[in-house]
Amino acid sequence: MLAASSRAASLSGALRAPSQRTYHSLTTLPSRKPVIAQGTPGYSAVSGHRVTVFGSTGFLGRYLVSKLGKIGTQVTVPYRDEDMKRHLKLMGDLGQIVPLEWDIRSEQQIAECLRHSDIVYNLVGRDYETKNFSYSAVHADGAARIARIAKECGVERLVHVSHLNASPDSTSAFYRAKFEGEERVKEIFPEATIIRPSIMYGYEDKLLNNMAIWPIYWRLNQSQTQCRPVHVFDVAQALANLMEMSRIERTLNLPGPSTLSYEFLLDLVASVSLRPVSSAPVLPKGLAKWAANLVGKSVWWPTLSPDEVERRFIDDAKTPGDWDVVGVTPSEIENHAITYLRRYRSADNFIRPVTLPPRPTIIEPQL
Ligand SMILES: NC(=O)c1ccc[n+]([C@@H]2O[C@H](COP(=O)([O-])OP(=O)(O)OC[C@H]3O[C@@H](n4cnc5c(N)ncnc54)[C@H](OP(=O)(O)O)[C@@H]3O)[C@@H](O)[C@H]2O)c1
Repeated sequence: MLAASSRAASLSGALRAPSQRTYHSLTTLPSRKPVIAQGTPGYSAVSGHRVTVFGSTGFLGRYLVSKLGKIGTQVTVPYRDEDMKRHLKLMGDLGQIVPLEWDIRSEQQIAECLRHSDIVYNLVGRDYETKNFSYSAVHADGAARIARIAKECGVERLVHVSHLNASPDSTSAFYRAKFEGEERVKEIFPEATIIRPSIMYGYEDKLLNNMAIWPIYWRLNQSQTQCRPVHVFDVAQALANLMEMSRIERTLNLPGPSTLSYEFLLDLVASVSLRPVSSAPVLPKGLAKWAANLVGKSVWWPTLSPDEVERRFIDDAKTPGDWDVVGVTPSEIENHAITYLRRYRSADNFIRPVTLPPRPTIIEPQL
């Protein structure tokens, strides 16, 4: 009797399932083409958008693809290595995640990846050079190539991810290449949205994880370098929100909500992971660069590069954030630290409560 009535209830629920469309179901692309969302919101709905995410196999990319897949967007995920896209396939309903092999030097493959999309995200770019790719080849030439082909294929919107510290005068070749990339993208695709996040933290980050494993590298500059860490979920949400918004033809800065020194972050990592604060020596810049160069040439896997050593001496730009434009409120690093650092606790300490170090005086960015 009970089963029969619950079946009847679920049937009437299904019959009442919201099939109504609202004003929010309609997005109009700059060419006036309508994009209409269908179905109950969620994984199996259809947002109506077709999106390409270059760099989807990276740290930020996986969270963006997940957020897009969750609202029923068809996402093309260009990949280089077969194994790097496997986890992405499950982030959308059947047929919604479309992996395509690509090479940043192949114009034909880039065109194949983006020609059916109404929005293209470019998240490509590692923060170290390889024997095949210099910073400039990826962050400037590669970015310009994607922008040009997107323009030629009639893609309506391009979102290019740069870095908060991108600058033509930076002492870091990475930041200079990021700036050159922005300029070239703007020249070719003036309507592009440029996104400048600061250093991101999350499960696969190179901030909290790296501090837990290699604290010595964060003691450079007496750990006094100031940074504005931002949660990768917040940046991914900001990027996903752009899809439903009208085209924003400018640069948006997405720094974290607070400016913190490496010293505080090292304290945070030690307190949360219940391990002693590192007493490693402070290496002079020249020595650290020399060691980074030597180690980098001796092993095949990526290690701390000399340019990364340089970046450890550069404070994050004090530019104000544009979070209100993208409709996201960035969260503080203390709220998430335990999620990403619990794995560094010993078995005895695994479930102990979290104690956070006191915040030093917060240095607010100058407006
Ligand atoms: N992580 C941060 O803290 C941070 C902060 C500010 C800005 N950003 C910027 O945000 C973007 C995403 O960062 P992320 O941390 O997600 O980067 P990531 O984890 O290093 O991933 C980089 C992505 O770019 C692809 N890629 C790199 N070099 C390539 C090449 N030569 N040809 C084709 N694909 C290439 C990688 O593909 P494979 O998997 O095939 O290698 C991967 O998908 C980057 O532009 C980065 O500069 C990052």
